[in-house]
Amino acid sequence: MSGFPAFDYRNARLYGESVQLDRIAEEFGTPCYVYSRAALIAAYEEFDAAFAGRDHLVCYAVKANSNLAILNFFAPRGGGVDTVSGGELLRVLKAGGDPQKVVFSGVGKQPDEMRAALAAGILCFNVEAEPELVVLDRVAGEMNKIAPVSLRVNPDVDAKTHPYISTGLKENKFGIPFDEAERLYLSSREFANVRITGLDCHIGSQLTELDPFVEACGKILGLLDRLETQGLPIDHLDLGGGLGIRYAGESPPPARDYVAALCSAVGQRNQRILIEPGRALVGNAGVLLTRVAYLKHTPYRNFAIVDAAMNDLMRPALYDAYHEILPVIANRNDIKTYQIVGPVCETGDFLGHDRKLSLAQGDLLAIMSAGAYGMSMSSNYNTRPRAAEVMVDGDRIHLIRERESIEQLIAGEKILP
Ligand code: LLP
Repeated sequence: MSGFPAFDYRNARLYGESVQLDRIAEEFGTPCYVYSRAALIAAYEEFDAAFAGRDHLVCYAVKANSNLAILNFFAPRGGGVDTVSGGELLRVLKAGGDPQKVVFSGVGKQPDEMRAALAAGILCFNVEAEPELVVLDRVAGEMNKIAPVSLRVNPDVDAKTHPYISTGLKENKFGIPFDEAERLYLSSREFANVRITGLDCHIGSQLTELDPFVEACGKILGLLDRLETQGLPIDHLDLGGGLGIRYAGESPPPARDYVAALCSAVGQRNQRILIEPGRALVGNAGVLLTRVAYLKHTPYRNFAIVDAAMNDLMRPALYDAYHEILPVIANRNDIKTYQIVGPVCETGDFLGHDRKLSLAQGDLLAIMSAGAYGMSMSSNYNTRPRAAEVMVDGDRIHLIRERESIEQLIAGEKILP
């Protein structure tokens, strides 16, 4: 048993749904991201079903994995998206997304991005500061449009996660300080070209407990009630994303418990509820396939040098994040403790430390839980073309992004005349 339902062993061989992962490596090469269609759909449906009868919108956070084939799953199922750039918005529209189900988050929206979103007719801008509201009001006025707005409020709640991905503390750059939010909400009535429609918060990512969500929700609801009492109606509550997944030993609450906790906090209030999950929808629906290029046994440590690197999956190098690493063909002979490292010229280029594996040159490994913030954070460091991406569906294999070529990579560069 792998512990990951979409990617499991049959006869000691790792499969993605009904496809042997070694077959994918033969056909498409490595490194290669592999996603399971069934896992994506199951994750979305668990969130959606948990709202049972309540007016809601599950807005997939595009940043987690922005491949068009993945974005294309959510619209036909009634889902929306959370975008943070003009580029993400364009992807969503190309993948058939409904602009009326798009929210636009982020601390640094540029006027051209605002224009694109206003032209598309998105559901809501999640505004993070007063100067942003000033610019949005001006841009909307120039276009003769009214911008729908939620203010993203920073509730000052400890999400108890890695400091780099905690966003809801008062010292973080995100959102409007809780104590200033009410004043800004009330003064937003003076902006002629914006209309307040919602209230938003997001406190961090990879949360493995419900308490911080419930605490943030309580603060936000208190603010909502005060605003309504003062004659400012709010149509929707956007409670952000952040539900964690199991990488190793964590036991995050299932999506249904998380949604039930939010719904119970909101109680009888009749606002539509939006959430913005990213990782919990795609994280465990993907793996990164890589091949052992060389083994290096030194008197101090054993290294498995694989063909994937920190440019393909940055999470271990950036957050010291743990990803399970499994052999594609299980073999229990001669187990050693390995450092799983990539070819990039940095000591920080590791994918896993101290993994007990039985390895030979040419073996395939699957780096698990790589569906979220894997490909979307990849780079071309060391002039490494980005990996291919493949989706399995039952026994079918679809290439959803070709491996990048070096020619594509240098195409925009020019030598001086
Ligand atoms: N909404 C907003 C406003 C966000 O900033 C984020 C993530 C999400 C939703 C989705 O959060 P999720 O459900 O995926 O936790 N690169 C990091 C994660 C950064 C998350 C940034 N914001 C990682 O690899 O762990």
